[in-house]
Amino acid sequence: MTAVTDASQTTLTRPGSTAPGRLNLPPLKLGPLTIDVPVVLAPMAGITNTAFRRLCREYGGGLYVNEMVTARALVERRPESLRIIHHDPDETPRSVQLYSVDPVTTGHAVRMLVEEDRTDHIDLNFGCPVPKVTRRGGGSALPWKSELFASIIAATVREASKKDIPVTVKMRRGIDEDHLTYLDAGRTARDLGVAAVALHGRTTEQFYSGQADWDAIARLREALPDIPVLGNGDIWSAEDAIAMVERTGVDGVVIGRGCQGRPWLFGDIQAAFEGSDHRFRPDLGQVADSFYRHAELLVDTFSGDEAKALRDIRKHVAWYFKGYQVGGQLRADLAQVMDLAQLRDLLAQLDRTAPYPGPDAEGPRGRAGAPKRPHLPDGWLASRELNEDQRAMIQAAELDVSGG
Ligand SMILES: Cc1cc2nc3c(=O)[nH]c(=O)nc-3n(C[C@H](O)[C@H](O)[C@H](O)COP(=O)(O)O)c2cc1C
Repeated sequence: MTAVTDASQTTLTRPGSTAPGRLNLPPLKLGPLTIDVPVVLAPMAGITNTAFRRLCREYGGGLYVNEMVTARALVERRPESLRIIHHDPDETPRSVQLYSVDPVTTGHAVRMLVEEDRTDHIDLNFGCPVPKVTRRGGGSALPWKSELFASIIAATVREASKKDIPVTVKMRRGIDEDHLTYLDAGRTARDLGVAAVALHGRTTEQFYSGQADWDAIARLREALPDIPVLGNGDIWSAEDAIAMVERTGVDGVVIGRGCQGRPWLFGDIQAAFEGSDHRFRPDLGQVADSFYRHAELLVDTFSGDEAKALRDIRKHVAWYFKGYQVGGQLRADLAQVMDLAQLRDLLAQLDRTAPYPGPDAEGPRGRAGAPKRPHLPDGWLASRELNEDQRAMIQAAELDVSGG
């Protein structure tokens, strides 16, 4: 993979334009897959379901990862986990993110995905900071236990490689500033045969607060010259995506909160990578249309259960309409909408001609907040190896989790 750090490869501002020029960023190669636009929709529990992925795909190219599914729930074929790994027939490549704390269950889940031809790509979640996950040693707590981390990756790669399915790893910098793991975890993953590593430039402790550390992403990129490294954290616009590539040399970018309520961000980023200054700047009517379409697609995703779909769309209201002229009462009504007919009535009250509001519609959105003391199993930080108690706990700890 070619890092784009060399100014000769990157045409900066073109004369007469404030837009950046074309980035010389090759397609992202993940094993046998070629992702023409090296942009990844970050897995987001409760967000990146079939409906949202379809909406995003309609605007731009890239790799669109689903919500994480736990290995245990998958092996048990729980209906919700089978719903999560469902892909529309035209969705390619199909991408599944697995969460697991146990190599044996991981191996079974990957075998099932592979033998039943249910995915083209598997991502492993080592980035989740939520207490109910880290307190059982999972998500972003796990790379600290180097042997366990390696054994989960090894089990995944072993099963996935039987059908040449590429495996990627998504992780944070570490647990806190005194327990950083990303460089050695990245090397371990590379040595075990993963196709790429994605780094969210925060620690568990940072949660979603402050700024992602893009310098750490640059260091990981430098440390792993032989596989693609993907950068994640605080990309809110196409310009941020370009800046991430230029500052860190990554092979692609991973977009999480920035596309909440803005599925067209993928179109903007593709345009920017191709050197175009075209940006989608929707008026309120266009936003309302996308919002309605999102709700309709959710009805399909939830097998026609309109009440469930409309409950789900409520959390997107603030993101879609951020910065637009929408009255307080109407916002409140949208956030309690019950069915598609009511949604149509509510959207009809909007001034569809209200223009794009500029910066008020841009910038950070979604989860933020303050740092949180990581919740970890007893004695977790004392050693990088599991002790007997922790080993027993891990074996019993394939739990129902969602969130990242
Ligand atoms: C609502 C929400 C759910 C998330 N769920 C997951 C998940 O299931 N798996 C995962 O690896 N990361 C998850 N994440 C983390 C994102 O994938 C991403 O790493 C993080 O938001 C940082 O990127 P951003 O600054 O572009 O948002 C989640 C984040 C949010 C906001």
